[in-house]
Amino acid sequence: MNARMQSILRRGIAAAALTSIAAHAGAGAPADPLAPAGRWQGNTGGSAATPPMGWNSWNAFRTDVDEDKVLGAARVLVDSGLAGLGYVYVNLDDGWWLKRRAGDSRLQVRTGIFPSAATGGPDGTSFRPFTDKLHAMGLKAGIYTDIGRNACSQAYDLHSPNLPQGTTAEREVGLDGHVAQDISLYFKDWGFDYIKVDACGLADFAPGSDLVQRQHYRGLAPLIERGSINRTDIAAVRGRYEAVAAALRAARPANDYVLSICAWGMANVRTWGKEVGNLWRTSSDITPNWTSMLHNFDSAAKRPLYAGPGHWNDPDILHIGHEEFDAAHPVEVRSHFSLWAMINAPLLVSYDLRNGPAALLAVLGNADVVALNQDKAGHQGVVAYDSDDAQIMVKTLGDGQRKAVALFNRGAAPVAVTLLARHLKMSDSAPVTLRDLWSKTTVTFTGEQAFTLAPHETRLFAASGRRQLEDGVYLSEIPGAIHVAVDGTRQALLDPGIHRMIDPWSNTRSGSARPQYAGWGGAQADTTPFGQTLQIAGQAFDSGIGILANSRLQVRNSAGYARLTASVGVDDSTVNTRQPVRFYVYGDGALLAASPPVAFGGKPFRLQADIRGHDVIELVVRGAASDTTPPVVATWGDVQLVRQQRKNP
Ligand code: GLA
Repeated sequence: MNARMQSILRRGIAAAALTSIAAHAGAGAPADPLAPAGRWQGNTGGSAATPPMGWNSWNAFRTDVDEDKVLGAARVLVDSGLAGLGYVYVNLDDGWWLKRRAGDSRLQVRTGIFPSAATGGPDGTSFRPFTDKLHAMGLKAGIYTDIGRNACSQAYDLHSPNLPQGTTAEREVGLDGHVAQDISLYFKDWGFDYIKVDACGLADFAPGSDLVQRQHYRGLAPLIERGSINRTDIAAVRGRYEAVAAALRAARPANDYVLSICAWGMANVRTWGKEVGNLWRTSSDITPNWTSMLHNFDSAAKRPLYAGPGHWNDPDILHIGHEEFDAAHPVEVRSHFSLWAMINAPLLVSYDLRNGPAALLAVLGNADVVALNQDKAGHQGVVAYDSDDAQIMVKTLGDGQRKAVALFNRGAAPVAVTLLARHLKMSDSAPVTLRDLWSKTTVTFTGEQAFTLAPHETRLFAASGRRQLEDGVYLSEIPGAIHVAVDGTRQALLDPGIHRMIDPWSNTRSGSARPQYAGWGGAQADTTPFGQTLQIAGQAFDSGIGILANSRLQVRNSAGYARLTASVGVDDSTVNTRQPVRFYVYGDGALLAASPPVAFGGKPFRLQADIRGHDVIELVVRGAASDTTPPVVATWGDVQLVRQQRKNP
């Protein structure tokens, strides 16, 4: 048989095999969440192509906020040049409201602190003059509300002079029962561009509680129980935020809004936030100390596959300007800012900018660091080396050719860190150039370079060198191009990998600093879902995607790659060693390649798919659907997109 005939025969066999797989996979069954969608399913609502930047009133003033303070911050943003760098959102947090007016339920602004809102007439008050001022300055305006009936200040700031006042109903300033009315008021009448929707109303106003009785609130059986994911009604919480998203789409058909979900990492929001909002808090409130910063950073840092253009992990507003991040702590300030930049966190400054030291403005105004956060490709940094002492994090910039790298000393003692070209997925044998984004100095090395980091220091570099894949990218290098449609998790498991700070509010009076945020076991870049090395039958992979069986990933092929290759199999770390799984690759809904059933201990199976001309590539792992065994851990080893089709397949 000549080579041409062999190749025709091979293709024929492959086609027959794929047909039978397609039948087996039940492609087309509408209820099957693993069936390829053939179109991008990531949330396209709202406009946050890059992480939102600007200022928020909360860490600066809590409820002691007023118009002068906010407009003063806005003025500094403009005059300092920060607005020109992208810091354009000026976000009012809790404390602005007076009451929900009886009769028509229209919200009223506390004009004692926002005098321009005293517009009179039938509406009583209006924030329109305030947002007009911000817009005239070239800025955008954000407002705050709660998804329940009552806001967080009504539970936690009871001594504030700026709490809503009046009857029980008048003090119900949250969205519950008023979603369409309030969203229309905020976005159509008042002209806001951004809304942060808090969640205390679903968590802290239990019927019969001391708070509810003393303050004469209407109780709401908690949908979020802070200490228990199993006693949290995840679907109900998500449903309420979905209703807000729908109201926003109706109020702003041009899609010019930002929805910030503030459920503090509860209710499994770290998994579904991307489907509903543009950013979602991944943890509790940041406080101005190092370990709180670590906690909040960790809550977002291992979730790169869940974020991308239009949807961002939110480890909370910056605490730069206060206590352990004030101007007397320049190392900590630069670390906090560098880390937020690397994980594509929103850069929302929150100190009194009117009285802030110039040194802090210089940090916030580091255009190189801002640019890496705002890189349009939206690839969140991926942890390349992980420990409780030091971490190395690498973020792909733009088209995949350039990288940023952060070397981070988490601890209070100096630490030696060796950066390998391999951490950057760059060649060991070609020079790598690092440009320090703080000192602006340059160093070049081949293979590896040793550093000593001062306590709490982060070194931040732009790196260039010869990439391991000169003609393509590993999928783990481009998390912003991936949409985790189904991650295979069957229960919301609590993430044990987040720094457990002493709770700043209860200190050691609470039981302990327990893991509290679901999302453990989801899709991961370069590790298994549980943080282990990717490994199939003894073969380890530095690069790849770790996921559970019964999962579906979508990858945008906007760069027009020609070929996808991977070495796939059941990961050696799987607890469930008994059930085989199959791997499938689809292009715009059509099956392109599939593995046979592969089982624990089986050698990696080499998958190749011709993806030329396909925009949405889908990677599916199917296993037995069972509730009685843990899901199989599946590894897409070395999964990569390559520009050239191989000449001799
Ligand atoms: C919660 C939020 C904070 C802030 C306050 C306002 O704690 O997480 O970011 O908005 O409420 O009361």
